[in-house]
Amino acid sequence: MVEAVQELQTQLADVNPLREGLEDVHTPDPATVVIFGITGDLAARKLGPALYNLAADGFLPTPFTIVGVGRRDWSDDQLRGEMRKNVEKFSRTAINETVWKSFSESLFYSKVAFDNVDDYKKLAGRLDELDKSRDTRGNRLFYMAIPPDLYSEVAAHLGSAELNKSKGYTRIIVEKPFGIDLDTARTLNADLRKVYQENQIYRIDHYLGKETVQNILVFRFANSIFEPLWNRRYIDHVQIAVAETVGVGTRGGYYDSSGAMRDIIQNHVMQVLTLVAMEPPIAWDADDIRDEKVKVLRSIRPIKPSEADQYSVRAQYSAGSVAGEGVKGYLETDEVAPNSTTETYVAFKLLIDNWRWADVPFYLRTGKALPKRATEISIEFKRPPAQLFREYTEGLDSNRLILRIQPDEGITLRFDAKIPGQAEKLRDVNMDFRYGTSFGVPTPEAYERLILDAMLGDSKLFARDDEVETAWALMTNFLKGWAQHGTAKLPQYSAGTWGPKEADDWIARDGRQWRRI
Ligand code: BG6
Repeated sequence: MVEAVQELQTQLADVNPLREGLEDVHTPDPATVVIFGITGDLAARKLGPALYNLAADGFLPTPFTIVGVGRRDWSDDQLRGEMRKNVEKFSRTAINETVWKSFSESLFYSKVAFDNVDDYKKLAGRLDELDKSRDTRGNRLFYMAIPPDLYSEVAAHLGSAELNKSKGYTRIIVEKPFGIDLDTARTLNADLRKVYQENQIYRIDHYLGKETVQNILVFRFANSIFEPLWNRRYIDHVQIAVAETVGVGTRGGYYDSSGAMRDIIQNHVMQVLTLVAMEPPIAWDADDIRDEKVKVLRSIRPIKPSEADQYSVRAQYSAGSVAGEGVKGYLETDEVAPNSTTETYVAFKLLIDNWRWADVPFYLRTGKALPKRATEISIEFKRPPAQLFREYTEGLDSNRLILRIQPDEGITLRFDAKIPGQAEKLRDVNMDFRYGTSFGVPTPEAYERLILDAMLGDSKLFARDDEVETAWALMTNFLKGWAQHGTAKLPQYSAGTWGPKEADDWIARDGRQWRRI
């Protein structure tokens, strides 16, 4: 059996362009992935399909086992059936029956009541048996695909059942949110570290798994043309935008206790900001990279709670329509308090007080129910020192480099050019790189990359404890400042528009405007 699977994987590796040149490097050791919360949404939409695609692309080790853990009374066969449906529905590739057969034979289910210590001991017994029968050598990756308020309890029970160690490696993956403010983030980190060493903990921020996010450092540090310009001398300001067309939909309960800052800015956008702003690491190594990211976070000028309104704008969407579809206002959404002050849109100005970035504002914004889905970084360059063409450049943009994280992934450089003809007329033009046309290979999903890296023990793309806490330290002062407004109604924007007028006025006071996405 094992030989047959190996044979199949070798064949797949031979035909898969993603594996080219990676055969020796990127195959993890035999292992068991234990997914807590296998019956939940994350496992269904992301983890199952990601693992299946890793198998299909020949990246999974042989032998390999997945143990799904949940509170329901499922059997192994039931898990296999459910997983098949999820892969059919959510995978980026269609099912290949040969791959599916060996993949589904590696799936097992264990019922665990998350507060029952004995169940963890039974789980430990089952993992030992599977290790023996499938020769997975005690290598274990625990994935917490469960509500975040259960992380500490489940980790503690894993510790009491001695599932924090084994004869192979033991690692634990946790998903954002890592706390809801600085205190809770510290408590969570401390609870995890009672059971696991920091180097066993993998904190997932799925933005770091996106190809285009990984490409930020490649773009900056594998090329020599842009980095000399990447500083306060040439850059006027930076904008990072995560625009979403979706509203809060059925996630009202979660979202109302979270909001745009906690949902997107504190984690995804702050991660992107550190990659844009950091110094080159001394080596391409997890801790060297994360040291530089933490330095950026520590250089961001902290605000006092009383300054929150000067450095941020918040708003909620009211009823409107996105892409021709009617959208209910946020306050009318199920499970959202009718007088909620949770923001669905937020914009920040952050200043990084270091030699590279002093006086270059970073404007961050995100919103739900906006007209377009797009995540992009826009580096806005200063105007030339002598404006020879002043009279012809009126109304034209300054030079701008746009890193399109999604969709339409790519990079655009925008500059002025002379319109051909007798007249001295100028226009903005683009130089464009598109992933779609430059590379003929399919892009793996963020979760595929991240799960594989966790199996390989590579934590470059995972958040370290101090990164999370430093980002929270900054954001917690905004939370405190906003709390001083009590129940005052937030500014509103109609669903399907680019956010509130207040945000346009706010950036205009700095003599700047939002980039039109
Ligand atoms: C999640 C947020 O972390 O990221 C969601 O909880 C958001 O609210 C999602 O929609 C955005 O991710 P992506 O990959 O679609 O940009």
